[in-house]
Formats: sequence, C-alpha cells, structure tokens
Amino acid sequence: MADIFDFTGKIVIVTGATRGLGRAIAFGFAARGADLVICSRKAEACHEMVAELADMGCRALAHPCHVGQWDQLEPLIDHVMAHFGRIDVLVNNAGIAPSTPSSIEMTEELFDKILGVNLKGPFRLSALAFPHLKETGGSIINITSTGAIRPAPAYPVYAAAKGALNIITKAQAMEFGPHVRVNAIMAGPFWTDISKAWREDYDQSAPSAVQRIGQPEEVVSTALYLASPMSSYTNGAIVQVDGGTI
Ligand SMILES: NC(=O)c1ccc[n+]([C@@H]2O[C@H](COP(=O)([O-])OP(=O)(O)OC[C@H]3O[C@@H](n4cnc5c(N)ncnc54)[C@H](OP(=O)(O)O)[C@@H]3O)[C@@H](O)[C@H]2O)c1
Repeated sequence: MADIFDFTGKIVIVTGATRGLGRAIAFGFAARGADLVICSRKAEACHEMVAELADMGCRALAHPCHVGQWDQLEPLIDHVMAHFGRIDVLVNNAGIAPSTPSSIEMTEELFDKILGVNLKGPFRLSALAFPHLKETGGSIINITSTGAIRPAPAYPVYAAAKGALNIITKAQAMEFGPHVRVNAIMAGPFWTDISKAWREDYDQSAPSAVQRIGQPEEVVSTALYLASPMSSYTNGAIVQVDGGTI
C-alpha cells in the first residue's frame, strides 16, 4: 500500500512554526516529504528552523511576520507563490494566550491583540490562501482550543477567539467547498511554552481520561490526517485532541 501520508512535492505553510505544536507539526510534514513555509514573529527563530529542516533534505522558506496584522499577510502569500509557485496546506497555528486581568481591567489594546493573533489573522490568511489552495485541491487546518467550550476565567477573550475560530472553520468550509477543505484541531492541554506560562504543575493536574498533559508530537498525526486525502469526507470538522478532557 502506498504511503497514505506521503506529502512529497506539497507546500505546507505553518504559522507559529518555531515552537510548540507548530514546530512538531512542521517537522511531521517535513518527515513525510513536504516542503515548508516557516512563519513566526522572530526572524532568527524562523531561519534556525529552516536550517534544521534543510538538514533533513526539506526545502524550507522562512517568512517572519505578525499574523495578527493583515497588511503582513499578503506579502507572506506572495512570497510563497514567488518561491514555490503553489500552496497545498495552510496550518493556522500561531496563537497567544496571555493571562488577562478582570473584565473591567481589560484594555482595548490587549483585547484587540488576543483577537488579532487568534482570530483575525487565521480568517484573513485563509481567505488569501484560498485561491491558491483551490488550484491544488488543498486544505486548511485551524488550531483552536478546548477553552472554546470550557472557558477559564483568566482567559475569556482567548476562549472567545478560539470559539469564533471554530465557527469560522465551519463557515469557510462551506464557502471554500468543494475545492478546499477547512477543519480545526481543538487542542486540549499540551506541554509547550504557552502552557508552561499557565501554571507550573500543569502536567500532573490536567483532568483528562489519559491523566496527563499532551506532548506536542501527539497532535501531529491528526494534522497529517486532516491534510491528506484520507480525510476527503471530513470538512468543517472540529476534531478534539485533548486526551479526553471532561
Ligand atoms: N499548548 C496548549 O496547551 C494549547 C492548548 C490549546 C490550544 N493551543 C493552541 O495551539 C497553538 C500553538 O500553541 P503552542 O502551545 O504551541 O504555543 P507556543 O509554544 O507559545 O508557540 C507559539 C508559536 O506562535 C508564534 N507566534 C506567536 N504570536 C505570533 C504572531 N503574532 N505572529 C506569528 N507567529 C506568532 C511563536 O513564535 P514567535 O514568538 O517568534 O512569534 C511560536 O512559534 C496556538 O494557537 C494555541 O492557542 C495550545
């Protein structure tokens, strides 16, 4: 049987690819033959990651940018098309979850920043990538959070942004179908910089059926599945990858 997860010749954009889940997802695609576009704010981190990928024989392109700012997204797509000439998969992974003050103390600037990275950016980037994904029959994967269905008091705006991204996933699946599939991975607690900042003892205390926090590598197979023809009848789906949190 041919390798069902062979991405040879495919161009995969991963935002927030330099750390955590994005990094694991990028290496997962590279290990299966894909060429990668590495995007995060820090140029040095993007270039370091590209060098690591090149060591595996992967053609990778660094494009540092802030995904929450729409004027930085068109240049990203233009750069990818000029360099690779096609786009097969977009993984909207970049996200921020800063602990926020009480609702009355929340500033407009922080509110807008959280919505910008977690919601506005993925919405716009998907729209810009769509015409190119349509050419290749590609797909979009949004990384959302179980915070969307179990909002914690310290992260109301983050939870709202992820909940809205779940809705955008379904709406754009309808808008972009039948050419391009749009799905979301609704992630539970994973051990990354985001969760380390949440609380020190997070790994042992996450209440889930598997009774532990996830490792970034454990999200990879779901991303590969959603990007592959094996999920051809899965569209507008919110796939929960959370160890069975209740
Ligand atoms: N870890 C969890 O427990 C968990 C749970 C549920 C959902 N998620 C979601 O999973 C995704 C990845 O989270 P993670 O835990 O892997 O986070 P992480 O370890 O903090 O990594 C975040 C990545 O996003 C990049 N980034 C942040 N802001 C950006 C911006 N404005 N523009 C472009 N890139 C940006 C960061 O690089 P730079 O700093 O260089 O920009 C970094 O590469 C996020 O959407 C998050 O909400 C995570």
